[in-house]
Amino acid sequence: MRHSLVASVFALLSLGAGAGAAHAEDALRDRAKGLFEPIPQSAPALPGNPATPEKVALGKMLYFEPRLSDRRDMACATCHNLSMSGVDGGLLSGGHNAQLAGREVLTVLNAVFNKSQYWDGRTADLQDQVVNSVMANPKAVLKTRGGPMAINPAELAATKQREIEQLKTIPYYVEAFKKAFPGEADPLVYDNIGRAIAVFEATLITPDSPFDRWLTGDDAALDSTQKAGLALFIDKGCAGCHNGVNVGGASYAKFGVVANPGPEHLPPEDAGRYAVTRNKADRYVFKVPSLRNVEMTAPYFHTGSTFDLKKAVAVMAEAQLGQKLSDDEATTIVAFLKTLTGKQPEIVLPVLPPRDN
Ligand code: HEC
Ligand code: HEC
Repeated sequence: MRHSLVASVFALLSLGAGAGAAHAEDALRDRAKGLFEPIPQSAPALPGNPATPEKVALGKMLYFEPRLSDRRDMACATCHNLSMSGVDGGLLSGGHNAQLAGREVLTVLNAVFNKSQYWDGRTADLQDQVVNSVMANPKAVLKTRGGPMAINPAELAATKQREIEQLKTIPYYVEAFKKAFPGEADPLVYDNIGRAIAVFEATLITPDSPFDRWLTGDDAALDSTQKAGLALFIDKGCAGCHNGVNVGGASYAKFGVVANPGPEHLPPEDAGRYAVTRNKADRYVFKVPSLRNVEMTAPYFHTGSTFDLKKAVAVMAEAQLGQKLSDDEATTIVAFLKTLTGKQPEIVLPVLPPRDN
């Protein structure tokens, strides 16, 4: 009798604790739902550029096609390696290897959900991005650090023309452009390269991350440390900038709102968005990057100045929010950030067609 009374008091107590915990969980989820959205399960449609299987297949080949570059030595996949979450691990860009590209690579994964493209937002959408990409003018990228893509229109046109001529020597592509852009008199043109690659890129999305599963109702998808990390991420103010479907990618902010992070992370010569707008208020303003798959996209910052995610979090807290995180807080936030890794696209490598000999 006595035993069962004690047992039922315990049962009541733990029921109470359980209900409290469930309430706290719902409250956290409600706050999170007001700030973030899950990655959808299927590729979003691009306005004015309908995806057909032929176009997506062509875009995928072009993504892996080094003959799209002036010297036939570089494909999109060279820098946006799909075995590495769409980045190059700092090998070709950023950091000490800035000779290839002035800034650290941004991932192509989920890029379709960003409001603008590049660290300085100089391009609106994926299709324009291709047309203005590294492939169109590798030399222009060398100049991006510290200035806008100083594109000489004549030089750019000549490069694009060479690329088109290279593709025209490959009979498969002549046919594939006809099938992907039916009814067009001259489908093998630069804008269509952009359209095809853009519809392929729109398929490079990473749904079903533990965070998204939790956001849509699966309590067990995050453990208690990860949930505490999410609460810190919101309470400290990170979500004020890193929000929306991409946990970033939707706005711009000065790097160093409160404190300059130092020349290692923010070298004075690259003024970011200022180069695009020439508005003084945009000095050292950069796109707030997406934090989707962030554990896989090191090194961090537009400079690629650190491989250490915990350090990047600490730098952010000081530079953007004027707060010094404890080691424990930074570790807890990193535990949350790791839940943003979604299902990576499964890519069967395309076989690239031979040229006509
Ligand atoms: C030499 C390496 C390199 C190659 C090759 C390359 N890129 Fe990039 N890409 C970069 C770098 C570096 C950035 C960031 C540059 C910046 O913001 O100033 C970038 C940015 C992007 C972005 C913007 C992502 C975002 O979130 O804003 C997209 C999309 C992209 N590249 C797609 C492509 C496509 C498609 C190709 C092939 C046609 C390509 N890239 C070829 C290095 C490369
Ligand atoms: C005022 C807006 C703002 C706030 C607040 C903010 N960030 Fe950022 N975050 C940025 C910008 C802008 C960058 C890009 C900086 C750069 O490299 O130029 C960035 C970059 C990052 C990166 C590097 C991502 C990459 O791929 O290179 C991480 C990680 C990050 N932020 C996490 C956080 C965390 C965690 C917090 C809270 C402690 C936070 N941020 C608060 C704007 C913000």
